Amino acid sequence: MMEKKNIDWANLGFGYVPTDKRFVANYKDGAWDDGCLTSDATVQISECAGVLQYAQTCFEGMKAYTTEDGRIVTFRPDLNAERMESSCKRLEMPVFPKDRFVDAIVETVAANGAYVPPYGSGATLYIRPFMFGSDAVIGVKPASEYQFRIFTTPVGPYFKGGVKPLTIRVCDYDRAAPHGTGHIKAGLNYAMSLYAIMDAHRQGFDENMYLDAATRTKVEETGGANFLFVTKDNKVVTPKSNSILPSITRRSLLVVAKDYLGLEVEEREVYLDEVKDFAECGLCGTAAVISPVGKIVDHGREICLPSGMTEMGPTTKKLYDTLTGIQMGRLEAPEGWIKVIK
Ligand SMILES: Cc1ncc(COP(=O)(O)O)c(C=O)c1O
Repeated sequence: MMEKKNIDWANLGFGYVPTDKRFVANYKDGAWDDGCLTSDATVQISECAGVLQYAQTCFEGMKAYTTEDGRIVTFRPDLNAERMESSCKRLEMPVFPKDRFVDAIVETVAANGAYVPPYGSGATLYIRPFMFGSDAVIGVKPASEYQFRIFTTPVGPYFKGGVKPLTIRVCDYDRAAPHGTGHIKAGLNYAMSLYAIMDAHRQGFDENMYLDAATRTKVEETGGANFLFVTKDNKVVTPKSNSILPSITRRSLLVVAKDYLGLEVEEREVYLDEVKDFAECGLCGTAAVISPVGKIVDHGREICLPSGMTEMGPTTKKLYDTLTGIQMGRLEAPEGWIKVIK
């Protein structure tokens, strides 16, 4: 067994802890270089870099896990590669090829194996691939040079308080326009969500429920996770929209619901008006896994989910246990879901 770092795994928050190695590749004259691992956690770029002036940057987020039998694995990195490809295309950035993306993830995680939290610790190694325009642009246009990097950082739960159900509010700010960039993981989507999330926190809410910008009648997602609902007759429902991020966790949970738990699943438009009729609600994403929602506040009107404010609803719990069981190697994974690092 590899020697692990001396870190208090059980008390890790969701923050940045630099690890030993990160991957860096540079794009110049129309081609990516070979890329390599480096110990240097700093980036030096032009004051006029495309990322600094016009926010030309996108990223991904995924995790490495230690399985019950001591292997280090990641979960569906090919889907992160594909999503980053669509982000890059929408932002006029060069694509880092899928095979190379997955290889670089493996190389980076392997080089930081001592930081992958042990099985059962409740912590995981968060992996952050990202790309940005690095050379100078002053007219509004894409950069011609880019850097692609991957760093890792050990993390605990995204929401403090573990599985305690969250209270969220219906947000008056919009996250994404109908034909905008809501479906990609562009830094700009997060920059403009910062005011809304801080405002939510100041008002005592854990998160924002964003509605569709065109009609403000349909549920979209939160600032960092998709929604899953469970109906009173135990169907799993998730919002369908072109302006939400296609969550890999959500797509995986729909397969888990259908194939492992035998539940009916529906991906469809979900109206705010019908939320009061659901039995359970959860936020799903790499960071959130599934975090239960206990209460949704719509301008003073409280929608209290029957699952309550003390624990996860029963179906949410089964989804959570099954997905984490697959990720931690306790349950057999569908073909191609687990990428073994070592
Ligand atoms: C806006 C947004 N929605 C949803 C998700 C969940 O996506 P995934 O399950 O791929 O992590 C994320 C990222 O975690 C996100 O930033």
